[in-house]
Amino acid sequence: MTTRVGIIGATGAVGQRLIQLLDPHPEFEVAALTASEDSTGSTYEEAAKWRISAPIPERVADMEVGETSPEAIPDDVSLVFSSLPSSVGAAVEPAFCEAGYIVSSNSSNGRADEDVPLTIPEVNADHIDLIEVQRDRRGWDGALVKNPNCSTITMVPPLAALEEAFGLERVTVSTLQAVSGAGYSGVTSMEIIDNAIPHIGGEEAKMETESRKLLGTFDGAEVEWLDARVDASCNRIPTLDGHLENVWTDTVAEATPDAAAEAMGSYPGLDLHSSPDRLVHVFEDPKRPQPRLDRDRENGMAIAAGGLQPTEGGIQFNCLAHNTLRGAAGASLLNGELLLENGYL
Ligand SMILES: NC(=O)c1ccc[n+]([C@@H]2O[C@H](COP(=O)([O-])OP(=O)(O)OC[C@H]3O[C@@H](n4cnc5c(N)ncnc54)[C@H](OP(=O)(O)O)[C@@H]3O)[C@@H](O)[C@H]2O)c1
Repeated sequence: MTTRVGIIGATGAVGQRLIQLLDPHPEFEVAALTASEDSTGSTYEEAAKWRISAPIPERVADMEVGETSPEAIPDDVSLVFSSLPSSVGAAVEPAFCEAGYIVSSNSSNGRADEDVPLTIPEVNADHIDLIEVQRDRRGWDGALVKNPNCSTITMVPPLAALEEAFGLERVTVSTLQAVSGAGYSGVTSMEIIDNAIPHIGGEEAKMETESRKLLGTFDGAEVEWLDARVDASCNRIPTLDGHLENVWTDTVAEATPDAAAEAMGSYPGLDLHSSPDRLVHVFEDPKRPQPRLDRDRENGMAIAAGGLQPTEGGIQFNCLAHNTLRGAAGASLLNGELLLENGYL
């Protein structure tokens, strides 16, 4: 039997990817879609400016888009994926949790809260049990679970491998981020064609805090964040999908490029439906990974790494992930699969 799920913010860039990934899915069935009041009452096909090359799944095309409130979600739905702008998520997600729904959310609101699990299942699945602390504190029957920002997801699996093998003291990252990361109305063509923008509002701070929470240790009551300094500089470039990042690390124990490549390439995956067979694909060719060539590996769910070089205190590398798949829709879907596996649904 499949679990019936809803998608709130279903018509945007991430919502569309969720629809794509859920068509079909062996464990989940889409039962409700919501968006802004501009879309309410229209069919999904009318409301969504569909930008994916595969057609809108037939079953979803004719579904009516509802209002974004718990009352619009059928009672037999237990899991709601949220791809709302964070200001809207902050206002409405708690109401869904209070009404008993488990919300697996892409929005940045609440990611740093101490009782909100922020998870990449392959990296810190155990943090999901922070739900118990959250329910005790907030009195919710439902729960709020977050996946990190797309640029953070790209670098954290390779960093987790380095942390486990050598320990991390310091991380510095500079990103080259695709336009789809800003959502459909985020960056105009006049701003980005023949251009690059050396700042993405709020993104640097998210990379610096979320990575330390993800790589932290959960003791059953709270997450102790990784004690390492992280500095980020974020750049928007005119690629469509796929965030490429240049990362410099200082490690506690000495690391060689070969040992670091071995640690990344052998970092264990999970057996969830949407997890890739191999989480981190490591290239020897220093010109890889590249967004156009490598973002779709393993249905867009694998992380690609390359360009490993020694530095004075550690290792330098490049990494890449598909920002709307691994970095957003696929990330919250994986969290949904983890919730199911761990008996929360
Ligand atoms: N794009 C990425 O790579 C990425 C990666 C990680 C995380 N995220 C996060 O995921 C979330 C969604 O991003 P996106 O790129 O998909 O944004 P988007 O393309 O702008 O889509 C936003 C969605 O929210 C709906 N919405 C907007 N205002 C609303 C309101 N007041 N009430 C109810 N629904 C409302 C929109 O409905 P209408 O169509 O009716 O306007 C649309 O369905 C954001 O929080 C973003 O930061 C995005």
